[in-house]
Amino acid sequence: CGIVGYIGNEDARDILLKGLSNLEYRGYDSAGIALLNAEGIHVFKEKGRIAVLRESVDPDIHATLGIGHTRWATHGQPNKCNAHPHQSASGRFTLVHNGVIENYNQLKTEYLSDVTMKSETDTEVVVQLIELFAKEGLSTGAALRKTLKLLDGSYAIALIDAEDSDTLYVAKNKSPLLIGLGDGFNVVASDATAMIQKTKRYVELVDEEVVELTRDSYMIMDLDGNEKTRAPYTVSFDAHDTEKGAYAHYMLKEIDEQPAVMRRLLQEYSGKDGVVTLDSTITKAVNAADRIYIIACGTSYHAGLVGKHLLETVAGIPTEVHISSEFSYNMPLLSKKPLFIFISQSGETADSRAVLVKVKKLGYPTLTMTNVEGSTLYREADYRMLLFAGPEIAVASTKAYTAMIAVFAFIAVASAQKTGKTLDLDLVHEMSIAAQGMEQMIDEKALLKEVAREYLSITRNAFYIGRGLDYYVCMEASLKLKEVSYIQAEGFAGGELKHGTIALIEDGTPVFAFATQQKVNNNIRSNVEEVAARGAHTCIISMDGVTNHADDRIVLPKVHHALAPLVCAVPLQLIAYYAALQNECDVDKPRNLAKSVTVE
Ligand code: G6P
Repeated sequence: CGIVGYIGNEDARDILLKGLSNLEYRGYDSAGIALLNAEGIHVFKEKGRIAVLRESVDPDIHATLGIGHTRWATHGQPNKCNAHPHQSASGRFTLVHNGVIENYNQLKTEYLSDVTMKSETDTEVVVQLIELFAKEGLSTGAALRKTLKLLDGSYAIALIDAEDSDTLYVAKNKSPLLIGLGDGFNVVASDATAMIQKTKRYVELVDEEVVELTRDSYMIMDLDGNEKTRAPYTVSFDAHDTEKGAYAHYMLKEIDEQPAVMRRLLQEYSGKDGVVTLDSTITKAVNAADRIYIIACGTSYHAGLVGKHLLETVAGIPTEVHISSEFSYNMPLLSKKPLFIFISQSGETADSRAVLVKVKKLGYPTLTMTNVEGSTLYREADYRMLLFAGPEIAVASTKAYTAMIAVFAFIAVASAQKTGKTLDLDLVHEMSIAAQGMEQMIDEKALLKEVAREYLSITRNAFYIGRGLDYYVCMEASLKLKEVSYIQAEGFAGGELKHGTIALIEDGTPVFAFATQQKVNNNIRSNVEEVAARGAHTCIISMDGVTNHADDRIVLPKVHHALAPLVCAVPLQLIAYYAALQNECDVDKPRNLAKSVTVE
């Protein structure tokens, strides 16, 4: 979910609606805003997208204080009634919330048995409690803090008191929230992209903090009301970076940006002499570890698998990769000197953060690799590395994935440089060749569109097979296809398919095989033969320089074998993109998904 708030002198309605559109990638089941003016509080909410909400907002209502919310449903159906904002029984308090209140049922029974609830949400309990405590004589700030002390779970909250048009109240625990500072106004947002049109200056909040914002001041407090001070910072991107320009979709724009991201990373992580240059404390931490544990979800997990390969083969450090939500509850036996690397585009994924909190408590060193400076995982780790991919807006991750792989290559090479390990990878040189290779594949859109048409226009399922690094690529290829085109897809280790899954191959079943690794080239080609013999419609994606065949459907430009996933990423993403267009799917905002999942 995403939340926004504005207190200033301009018309809040348009600022909030624009802010919510910028945050729509965080969830888009339903949305709402509340505006406070001299006539009172006005709440508008709708099921569906921000565009639907915009239509329903009365254009004649002007206000200079307001809050807004776009929802990814957790508790309660995504309908108008469960949409935020929620109001207290008398209508005095109006609130938007991102997160999950785990003990809401218990609080309802204990404190609110006399109150008739209007929705099924955990959020309504919060606003009703605030009213209860305000009725008992507490100030709004005190009632909010008392309520927060009772809550178990996560929250980012923005609250309006209809009796006070000069204050906007906010609170944070686990869910992300920033305050943005302006001249004569202040804003609240789940992340800086929401309000980038208004300001580039933000103040981070840490857990269990509340803030009282006026038009020209902000006061941060802990839950006991003790004041805290914190300096603002300036974000490094501007409104232009979040626009899609002439592109039909953000996804396509972000795929196209990948070579530029690679070149930016070369600038950031290497010196003029072609040597990889990393913050020496990071190289030290990596080399001090006897084992690295990579923790991530979704696409970032798939980048982690490639990262493992690079760390083991280039740096010689044993590495494990774990899905965050599993690791939290099924922690493996750890080595003596582990280093945890968290990979997260958003830096906010709750599943990953839960692991970070846990391993920090155990006293282990942590490194976060993220695209969002100042995000929760960025702030809370001991070491941090940025992806420099620029804002990624499409829900399906593309340029962050390749940036993650590239950053792993830099870490692995920096570690090997330091320990004096022999390198067969001149990374700075090979990375620029890979960037060129990606560019060449980006120019092959017509071919990739045709492949999507030929293989994926009438199918309900598809398979991707590969060995070694190509297998990891297949896992991402199948996820991308599922996410954006809703075609059921599976990525398989080429040799494993015959042990069961081959039963699913029928006449015409599409099977894509990545064949970029010379040492397993013969084996993967045998696997292709096995499925072809059973009727599969096969498409081989091979690489120039690796023994290939005249009838390979796609031949990628030659790059160093360890960097092949960077170039494979482009066709796998574009095939998914064109398949999604064919299926008339909402490419940038696939159903049921959210880009930044801030609940566990
Ligand atoms: C969500 C997104 C995925 C993403 C995953 C991890 O589920 O839909 O695209 O890969 O979260 O996100 P993170 O921001 O931690 O990389």
